[in-house]
Amino acid sequence: MIASLVFLMTLTFVYFTPLVFSQGQRRRSASGPAVPKKYSEFPHNAKAHQLVCATCHKFPSPNWNKVRSGSAAFPDITEYPQHESCIGCHRQQFFRGTPPVVCSICHTNPGPRDSSRHPFPNPREIFDTSKKGKQPSYSSDFAIGFPHDKHIEIVAASGAQLSPFRNVNFRTRLAGEESCKVCHANLFPQGESPDEFITPPPASIGDAFWLKKGTFKSVPTGHTTCFTCHSQESGMLPAPTDCNSCHKLKPEMPAADFDSKIAVQMGVEQRVILDAWRRRDSSGKFRHEFTAHNDLSCDTCHTVGTINTLDPKTKRVSVTSCSICHVTATVDDGGAMNFEVQARKTDTKFQCTKCHVVFGSRPIPQSHIQAIIEAGGKP
Ligand code: HEC
Ligand code: HEC
Ligand code: HEC
Ligand code: HEC
Ligand code: HEC
Ligand code: HEC
Ligand code: HEC
Ligand code: HEC
Ligand code: HEC
Repeated sequence: MIASLVFLMTLTFVYFTPLVFSQGQRRRSASGPAVPKKYSEFPHNAKAHQLVCATCHKFPSPNWNKVRSGSAAFPDITEYPQHESCIGCHRQQFFRGTPPVVCSICHTNPGPRDSSRHPFPNPREIFDTSKKGKQPSYSSDFAIGFPHDKHIEIVAASGAQLSPFRNVNFRTRLAGEESCKVCHANLFPQGESPDEFITPPPASIGDAFWLKKGTFKSVPTGHTTCFTCHSQESGMLPAPTDCNSCHKLKPEMPAADFDSKIAVQMGVEQRVILDAWRRRDSSGKFRHEFTAHNDLSCDTCHTVGTINTLDPKTKRVSVTSCSICHVTATVDDGGAMNFEVQARKTDTKFQCTKCHVVFGSRPIPQSHIQAIIEAGGKP
């Protein structure tokens, strides 16, 4: 086995320019001090790694019909890149240390005779429950570019929904709403269960905040929905091999109404929840499944026609979409916003907790004052 590994390394070495560098080399990050390389995590955004995706990800992976079985299986990327994707540039890292740190990106117990690996990050259903997938610090290097405007009618009409008669529909807006559910459902809904909370709260909870079920909407976590249409047989572009038509390096993310310490305290571990919560830059507490909210059409708060999923500013939910119910002319009319704004006026340390997790201790934004004025109130 040692012989074959060494042979493989020697063999593949010739494919790359031998760009060798030392493990002790330091990188200067944009934000200032030099950061020592760890070689324990693979960064797609490192300059030297900006290569054609297929350099490392060969479509489909040999195990695609083993990780999913029967009719659920489809050609997909479900395994780590092979040694030859790295060795040409990282000869030194592959031989330094017992075992070398770099092996641990893919292997659970690296050694010359042990090839066991962590589950690859796709499919997420398997990866998210693994030790590597559960590391709180783990997050994707990518964001998804998904043009809603080009899809809504198509998805409502065909594809992911089974009935061929779906395209016979005169109520386009409802058809659009229906199509949202193909990709976005209430995550961990309460449904008929009497338990409101995602994890059991302490007995002394009172009115204090504890995360409720059905707060977040899901987003697609893999290729199952996309590749029903974007498959090699259909020829619909982008093809499944055009990784970077859908995956783009993550842009800088705005501050979120989220605190990881609170999530830990509540025992919230599900990656799908943590990912969504980390991206909440409007209201960290808004609950989709809540009766009064669930019956509203999505476009009360989301205008998908103008959302660019790669630009966080465009998907922000404005406080004006809460106004009809939570903002009134006066405090006596019952608006939660009015109550909190007034409470802040009386006590500068007052924290707004109705809609917010951490934003509520910051200065009141102009948008909130404006919402009260628009509801007929005085600033
Ligand atoms: C130099 C090799 C290399 C190249 C080039 C590369 N990848 Fe990867 N990719 C990897 C490795 C290694 C992993 C596993 C990393 C891990 O699990 O921490 C990975 C994991 C991923 C993941 C899952 C982890 C995450 O950050 O979401 C996605 C998605 C992905 N690659 C997409 C792409 C796309 C899209 C491209 C082209 C734009 C690309 N990769 C180019 C080596 C590469
Ligand atoms: C074309 C050459 C090239 C290829 C191919 C390549 N790397 Fe790299 N890698 C580099 C260079 C150069 C750096 C350091 C400079 C930088 O950060 O841009 C680096 C940095 C790294 C780091 C250190 C990140 C840190 O800052 O801690 C890791 C880990 C790594 N590579 C893993 C891999 C793995 C795993 C593969 C194969 C899947 C791979 N690389 C393929 C050139 C390459
Ligand atoms: C980018 C992910 C990645 C890294 C980094 C990596 N491996 Fe692997 N390794 C694989 C994959 C994928 C296979 C399976 C290859 C196959 O089955 O064709 C494998 C196979 C192996 C095998 C089985 C024999 C063989 O060569 O196919 C051994 C042993 C092994 N790796 C050891 C190591 C050691 C030691 C290191 C660190 C020096 C290392 N690997 C680094 C992905 C990786
Ligand atoms: C075919 C699948 C699909 C359909 C149908 C769909 N979306 Fe999306 N939506 C996505 C994907 C993919 C993203 C990007 C998710 C990501 O970044 O991981 C997204 C992102 C979003 C976001 C931003 C999420 C965030 O991070 O804040 C909103 C809001 C949204 N969609 C609303 C809707 C509404 C409303 C509809 C129906 C009119 C709809 N979507 C229909 C796939 C879909
Ligand atoms: C009353 C307003 C409202 C309605 C109606 C609404 N949403 Fe949302 N939605 C929000 C808010 C607020 C957020 C959090 C935005 C943020 O903080 O970034 C959100 C976030 C999302 C997200 C990102 C994941 C998450 O939960 O943070 C998706 C996807 C989404 N909504 C889809 C939908 C779909 C699909 C519908 C219709 C079935 C819908 N929403 C109806 C207000 C609403
Ligand atoms: C019901 C079939 C269907 C599904 C499901 C579907 N798509 Fe598409 N997609 C299309 C069609 C048709 C086009 C071409 C639309 C056009 O060019 O007007 C397209 C175009 C695209 C484009 C290119 C848009 C452009 O500007 O050229 C991207 C990116 C894309 N889809 C991503 C996705 C992602 C990500 C998913 C899964 C979340 C997905 N699609 C699911 C049918 C589908
Ligand atoms: C038609 C659009 C599309 C194409 C093409 C595509 N992906 Fe994806 N991919 C997605 C979406 C949507 C997700 C779910 C995103 C999420 O969870 O953030 C996803 C998820 C993944 C994941 C799971 C980890 C994660 O980020 O959630 C990996 C790994 C991955 N893709 C790799 C690839 C590679 C490699 C290619 C090219 C061979 C590729 N994808 C091509 C749309 C696409
Ligand atoms: C009914 C729900 C609701 C209430 C009550 C509320 N907010 Fe907000 N807040 C939002 C929404 C929605 C946004 C997103 C964007 C906007 O300002 O329109 C937001 C945004 C914010 C931001 C981010 C501003 C930025 O531009 O980054 C801060 C800070 C904030 N609120 C503080 C407060 C304070 C302080 C109070 C109490 C006086 C309060 N909020 C009451 C819903 C609410
Ligand atoms: C159609 C009316 C309506 C709209 C629009 C609406 N809400 Fe609500 N919301 C309610 C009602 C009714 C309640 C229950 C009474 C209360 O708590 O004020 C409620 C409760 C809440 C709660 C407390 C939920 C709980 O589980 O205790 C939050 C947080 C909230 N809304 C946030 C928002 C945000 C943020 C928006 C705008 C993005 C919004 N709501 C838009 C009607 C609405």
